[in-house]
Amino acid sequence: MSNAFPALPADFVFGAATAAYQIEGAHDEDGRGPSIWDTYCREPGRIEGAASGDVACDHYHRYREDVALLRELGAGSYRFSVAWPRVQPTGTGPANRRGLDFYDRLTDELLAAGISPAATLYHWDLPQPLEDRGGWRVRETAQRFAEYAALVAARLGDRIPRWITLNEPFCSAFLGYATGRHAPGAREGRGALAAAHHLLVGHGLAVRALRAAGVAEAGITLNPDRLLPATDSAADHAALRRAETLHNETWLDPLFAGRYPRGAAETWGPQADGSWRLDGDLALIGTPSDFVGINYYRPITVADAPYRDPDPATRTATDIRVAECPRDDVRHTTMGWPVDPHTLTDLLTDLTARYPALPPLLITENGSAEADTVTPDGRVHDTDRVDYLRGHLAAVADAIRAGVDVRGYYVWSLLDNFEWARGYGQRFGLVHIDYPTQRRLPKDSYHWYRDLIAAHHRHHTRQQAPTAQHTGEQAAR
Ligand code: FCB
Repeated sequence: MSNAFPALPADFVFGAATAAYQIEGAHDEDGRGPSIWDTYCREPGRIEGAASGDVACDHYHRYREDVALLRELGAGSYRFSVAWPRVQPTGTGPANRRGLDFYDRLTDELLAAGISPAATLYHWDLPQPLEDRGGWRVRETAQRFAEYAALVAARLGDRIPRWITLNEPFCSAFLGYATGRHAPGAREGRGALAAAHHLLVGHGLAVRALRAAGVAEAGITLNPDRLLPATDSAADHAALRRAETLHNETWLDPLFAGRYPRGAAETWGPQADGSWRLDGDLALIGTPSDFVGINYYRPITVADAPYRDPDPATRTATDIRVAECPRDDVRHTTMGWPVDPHTLTDLLTDLTARYPALPPLLITENGSAEADTVTPDGRVHDTDRVDYLRGHLAAVADAIRAGVDVRGYYVWSLLDNFEWARGYGQRFGLVHIDYPTQRRLPKDSYHWYRDLIAAHHRHHTRQQAPTAQHTGEQAAR
């Protein structure tokens, strides 16, 4: 029987996603400068297996092979990120032509394969010299980001229709500057809150720069969380409210409701004095977007907890008297993340209800890390990943049936790759990478996704056929 999800509209876009530092390698080629991730990976104890993105999937040299895999897959769109330190090795000044040349070649290769490019401008690889001047803690970085956006759009804006300013600013601000689990590895309170604000200002400025360059679509990718209270106690519900502020409202309220999060004082106390805000920032942050990208992997169950650090002067911005609780009622991926697809439907319907001004949605990442092995038949039988993807696509279809405007879905990820602090042990790809040889091997999930995309197109072509005959027009595809 058909693999398609009939609720997904005919023009629903199926894609796959990657990010520059996780796949490109070629860390010192063609004038690329160092990013905060190059620095962080070299600090002892930061990354599992002391790994780095120095070589990664060597995509910088193998992009043709990778685009061929996307074409075989039938992907309608490919989401990749542009490495800021390739374009501006020090984070300021004129473009490094050889850096932009790479994205030019990649874009043309995609277009020749009939795949629509979707570019993320910032997937976490801040040029190190900008971090040395304060990074996202300082407003200047937002200005620099907009200048970089203008340089990239001037070169590629005519051929790349879809632009994503930031990927998951939650992670940049709170993993980068509060938990220290991501580059640059800081553990701060006010610094992280200021970073959150400056990332949003950078987004607003970059959207304006992209519009000035005439691009077709501009938006941001967030990772809003589906948060569940551990119990019905008042204390756990209060913890849930604080977690909502940290994970969701810090981003969604200024972007789509024209206000700063109302729970800031309860969540952070005097740390959140907002002294980094300027008049006019809300209007800038709220510059209209054409879409919002949603990255979704798992729900988080939260409970009330004491502060980890009793001293408010040294307390980090993620220390908000909330503990994440384990679950024992569902399967977990190798990341330790619970698999509960229905929570994606709930998240999407809830966001739509809470933010009437929300633009159309794109699922810009969804996928699972599994313990993949190449079996003696030369295949990777990743049935758990197929179940995960099928369940989450069904959850998207349910949300659409409930009235949510979702335009597309990108699997994370096309390739196994460098999973940040977790190194190369976590495999998210539709395509298996044998790192010593760089051999690409499509997994069963790749074949499943390819068949699903083909079935979707067949299903909708059949639906259109009577009209086409009637009017004499060609049925689409
Ligand atoms: C997201 C990141 C992406 C990848 C997945 C697993 O938070 O955007 O780069 O690491 O998680």
